[in-house]
Amino acid sequence: MIKKELYSCLLVGLGNIGFKYDKSLINNKKILSHAKAIFHNKNLKLVAGVDSNIKNISLFKKIYKVETFTNLHSALKKKPDIVIVATPTESHLKIIKILLTKKSIKTIICEKPFSFDYRGLNEILKKCKNKNINLFVNYIRISDPASIQIKNIVQKFTKKINGVCEVHYAKGFYNNCSHFFNLIEYWFGDFKNLESVKKIKKINFYDYKLYCKANFEKAEVRFIPLKNDNLKDFIKIRLKNKIIQYLSGGKRIYIKRIGSKKNKLVYKKIEIKNKMKIYQKNFYQELIAFLNNKKYRLCSGEQALKTLKNMNYITRKMYEKN
Ligand SMILES: NC(=O)c1ccc[n+]([C@@H]2O[C@H](COP(=O)([O-])OP(=O)(O)OC[C@H]3O[C@@H](n4cnc5c(N)ncnc54)[C@H](O)[C@@H]3O)[C@@H](O)[C@H]2O)c1
Repeated sequence: MIKKELYSCLLVGLGNIGFKYDKSLINNKKILSHAKAIFHNKNLKLVAGVDSNIKNISLFKKIYKVETFTNLHSALKKKPDIVIVATPTESHLKIIKILLTKKSIKTIICEKPFSFDYRGLNEILKKCKNKNINLFVNYIRISDPASIQIKNIVQKFTKKINGVCEVHYAKGFYNNCSHFFNLIEYWFGDFKNLESVKKIKKINFYDYKLYCKANFEKAEVRFIPLKNDNLKDFIKIRLKNKIIQYLSGGKRIYIKRIGSKKNKLVYKKIEIKNKMKIYQKNFYQELIAFLNNKKYRLCSGEQALKTLKNMNYITRKMYEKN
């Protein structure tokens, strides 16, 4: 992509993550949606929004005062540099296929989960590569500075001894736990093998609550569904003399150091600062770093495909076993 001072962005999907999560533009202590993050980034310009729902379009227009379309083909006449796909997961592939026919587009941001169709995604990624299009998936936690701090701690400690980790997730394995699966791959390296899997409940056409125990390069990880979806998800990592608590999706993170004094166990708890209140801002800052050929932390399409492949493998095994 030719380096620019200002990149034009088209947002497809004007729902929660598109713009509704944070409708006030004045308060920039929270930046949770694509529209607001783009609005507050000096290198990005939101040129238009697309949605099939008229109500969402008119609310979006009131706040962002940009052109809106109900038809993607018409919107693409704006020739954006970057397109963000923030529609329901089932529609991602179809929309990206249309985007690939347009020459102006050099970067695509797709919401997570990328898709449920591994083959379809594989095809799409091959086409992106041939056309020199960069595709990233919005697994936001990788762009949070606290995540890299945890990765550094984990990697240092797990050189000799593997870590033990528990991921307690709410909602579905694909819908919500994919965030954590992707994060676990980032912290502990590739998924190696599955030790056990058990279906707890099918929750809709494509998603489940399931329990599984799996080995990653540097840790043994258990994914455990919470009994109640209103409970807050959390991750607990046990290292040699440390416990890392990653609470409420990373909004609160602590390291507990365990030592001994006069034959008694002593704990020291330190908070790791995170920037999850502005997670979408973090993501776009990393995107600008990428566009400027600097070091960046984003989830590539290839990595998201790997995450999906591993999660599909686990659900397939769940059916074989049950
Ligand atoms: N990264 C994250 O933390 C995060 C958080 C929430 C949602 N998501 C993901 O974002 C996606 C959207 O979720 P949401 O909660 O914002 O959903 P939503 O239902 O609130 O919004 C989706 C919007 O897309 C529109 N739409 C549907 N099909 C369309 C099409 N073909 N063309 C144009 N517009 C279309 C709908 O009218 C709606 O306004 C999902 O894939 C979801 O998993 C990610």
